[in-house]
Amino acid sequence: MSTVNVPLLDLKPQYQSIKAEVDAAMARVVASQYFILGPEVEALEQEIAAYCQVKHGIGCTSGSDALILALMAIGIKPGDEILCPSYTFFATGSAPCRLGAKPVWVDIDPVTYNMCPRAAAEVAQRCTRLKAIIPVHLFGQAADVDAFAALGTRLGVPVIEDGAQAIGARDATGAMVGARCAMSTWSFFPSKNLGCFGDGGMITTNCPHVAEQLKVLRVHGSKVKYYHRTIGMNGRLDALQAAVLRVKLPHLESWHAGRLSNADFYDAAFRAAGAADSRTPLASGGTPLRFPSRPAAPARHIYNQYVIRVPESMRDDLRAHLAEQKIGTEIYYPLPLHLQECFEFLGTAVKGLLPHTEAAAKETIALPIFPELTSEQRAHVAQQVVAFVGKSARTLAGTH
Ligand SMILES: Cc1ncc(COP(=O)(O)O)c(C=O)c1O
Repeated sequence: MSTVNVPLLDLKPQYQSIKAEVDAAMARVVASQYFILGPEVEALEQEIAAYCQVKHGIGCTSGSDALILALMAIGIKPGDEILCPSYTFFATGSAPCRLGAKPVWVDIDPVTYNMCPRAAAEVAQRCTRLKAIIPVHLFGQAADVDAFAALGTRLGVPVIEDGAQAIGARDATGAMVGARCAMSTWSFFPSKNLGCFGDGGMITTNCPHVAEQLKVLRVHGSKVKYYHRTIGMNGRLDALQAAVLRVKLPHLESWHAGRLSNADFYDAAFRAAGAADSRTPLASGGTPLRFPSRPAAPARHIYNQYVIRVPESMRDDLRAHLAEQKIGTEIYYPLPLHLQECFEFLGTAVKGLLPHTEAAAKETIALPIFPELTSEQRAHVAQQVVAFVGKSARTLAGTH
């Protein structure tokens, strides 16, 4: 057994590399005793807005609350319908429900794992109270922003981009994700490319009225303290989290580059072993391994996750083998949202409803991709994946 240990994510080396700066920034906040919103949060809002090439940033408690606040800002009411993927983190689908609205599930494009615009247009035809579309830029790769912006315009509903996993990703036109639609929501959960030391989030928008509305909603709906014209929530970002993020933001591009270099390494290793990228379906044969397809420049994948695909019969055994070899992996996501118990009331818990989503949930597995992986660690991951897939494929073909 190998002595190389490869966790799915190890945040300690990153902290060590910026420890002095982070510790000083946190000490500054502690000395000020200004902990909620305030100058650190305002500065971060401007810096993130500039990075994302949008006019306004509104810091909030988390990426989950960012979605709820965004839906509140456009006046989502009970019974309204919101198009969103089922193959995503839970918060994308639960946010509409928190306001009594209904997520309307849309299947994915099996190449990018992002919500499919053609499927969204079809599903929209059956909606009677459609009020918004939420594409997710899953794993750090832009969804088809052009198509969703056009669909939103045609249907007369706003598009809210869930950019939680994709800060810094660029769409097919080279624009930063989040820059071209009504609003975008972000998460600073520690595992994101830009993560804080706890929970944190932001909403960005180019519209000054929406920005103003969001600022009111995140402080219990009060513009003037203790006077409430609307019911909001406690959705404020802490100054300590903002201070940490302000130290990290100038390093973000170099961390994206580190992830990209690891993705290059894996892509090359898997290609050398006969694997193709996700544009070639597993069913077309060859080495039963697909690595993530890379969007053509000027688009940019930021590899929040590096997700490969193997046959369902192999996936869990591959995961167990990698665990034995001290390699951390994760399944994003093992049960699509439309099949979750808590959404049964929607009547959509029907197996086969979203075939691409359901297949991806059974066949995908995320490998360690964090920027500080050593050459030895990433070589160990690639080698173990290739060896296991090769052996399993030979066994399946009966040639062992
Ligand atoms: C796609 C997506 N949306 C929303 C969220 C929610 O963000 P948070 O964990 O900051 O609440 C996440 C977090 O993992 C996510 O991946």
